[in-house]
Amino acid sequence: MQRICIIGGGYVGLTYAAGLALKGFHVDIVDIRDPACDAINRGECPIDEPGLHEAIKNSVDGGMIAASPSIDDVFAGCTLFLVCVGTYCDEAGNIDLSQVRAVATGLQRCLAASTGGTFRTVCVKSTVICGTTDGVVQPLLEASGKLAGKDFGLAMSPEFLKEGSALDDIMNPDKIVIGGIDQRSIDAVRSVLGCFAAGTDRDGIVIETDLRTAELIKYAQNAFLATKISFVNEISRFAEMFGVNVGEVARAMGMDARISPLFLNAGPGFGGSCFPKDVRALLTAGRKAGHDSMLLDAVLAVNEAQKAHVVELLAARRAIAGMSIAILGLSFKANTGDTRESVSRTVIPELVRAGAARVKVHDPSCLARQEISEDLGSQGPVEVHDDVHACIAGTDACLVLTEWPAYKGLGAGAFSAMAPGAIVVDARRILDKASFAWSPIELVVLGESHDRSFRPG
Ligand code: UDX
Repeated sequence: MQRICIIGGGYVGLTYAAGLALKGFHVDIVDIRDPACDAINRGECPIDEPGLHEAIKNSVDGGMIAASPSIDDVFAGCTLFLVCVGTYCDEAGNIDLSQVRAVATGLQRCLAASTGGTFRTVCVKSTVICGTTDGVVQPLLEASGKLAGKDFGLAMSPEFLKEGSALDDIMNPDKIVIGGIDQRSIDAVRSVLGCFAAGTDRDGIVIETDLRTAELIKYAQNAFLATKISFVNEISRFAEMFGVNVGEVARAMGMDARISPLFLNAGPGFGGSCFPKDVRALLTAGRKAGHDSMLLDAVLAVNEAQKAHVVELLAARRAIAGMSIAILGLSFKANTGDTRESVSRTVIPELVRAGAARVKVHDPSCLARQEISEDLGSQGPVEVHDDVHACIAGTDACLVLTEWPAYKGLGAGAFSAMAPGAIVVDARRILDKASFAWSPIELVVLGESHDRSFRPG
């Protein structure tokens, strides 16, 4: 069986390694972090994803996955190289390609030293802006003296996995996009990644294209989903002003097959490791190329405004100074411990700035609590709780920021230990609204209002 080399043992790399091993491929993971390789070789997986721990453990035990810190150790035995390293993006939207460059330089060294007729293909899976594979990776690889398309293959195949369902997303994809410098490169990738489209009826989900189109598909898709969220959040602001429930509006809109109900949930704004970074990167790359995207600029501006609006919903009803406030939800979405660009990272410092006496925070994920404790725990009044009831007890206000199943459907009873005159702001629209009808606790739901005072004209 063919040996696949996955470079980068992070979120994407480990999940692809597990998926390919489950399909019967031998996978060599290369990661420059020695401790990460040791952990993989012990069958450990640092990422909390359904099914991933077992898949990695079984595959390592069964000899299907092995990790090594050096590409030189595994190059000779592999024919396909999937580049899955991080591409971080700064506040200004500039992508840091240092890891991609370092990987290409390592492969260049191996290509230069290689002899014999084995045709190897390098496929970029990291999210990279248009022009990276042919403009940055290709020249570095060709500095080996070997030519792309002649001596080795070059491809780009973006990933679309979501945190919380990463392995399932890989095993059952909606589509597999393969961009290649030529058909031979595409075929080399298709012969491996095509296993996830097994069965003749699913063959049509493989999209063959060129390198730059593959790169742009990934950004276009994430930018579109982010736009959809900002759009519904904008509508939720109208709903609040006009005395309407945004949930009913979105439900009706979603019934139109051209719109679909997915990614149409109004909330406190999107976060995570992809949407904010990818929209910023596309916007910045567009500006460098001479196009200033008004739409993407607005998508990000609406998102920032929405995070601020969560605090405004509280500030419009109570004076924050001196208050004791509970935050439910630190991760950027449910079922992940990831707090990157999460709403809590904006809201908590804002409450502290506004003079809150205590900010008690909770998240069902231990990882999320740990991350926020490390990064914001020193901000005066911030206290991290592992018990949701202890977090809520005695507070004057509670903000629900993440749609964790543990919070879904909580009724007024769950908040009964709050101080007299307390207020709950449900920014995820998940609490049991009806139960608050007879409760002394005021419930404010983002995207809803009963104020019908607005009159046009
Ligand atoms: C996203 C893309 O979905 C995935 O295809 C890509 O590969 C990586 O980025 P992920 O970041 O894991 O995946 O999270 P996702 O489920 O897409 O949610 C992103 C953010 O949007 C979260 O903060 C979530 O709470 C928010 N969101 C999502 C909404 O506010 N409303 C919605 O209707 C959907």
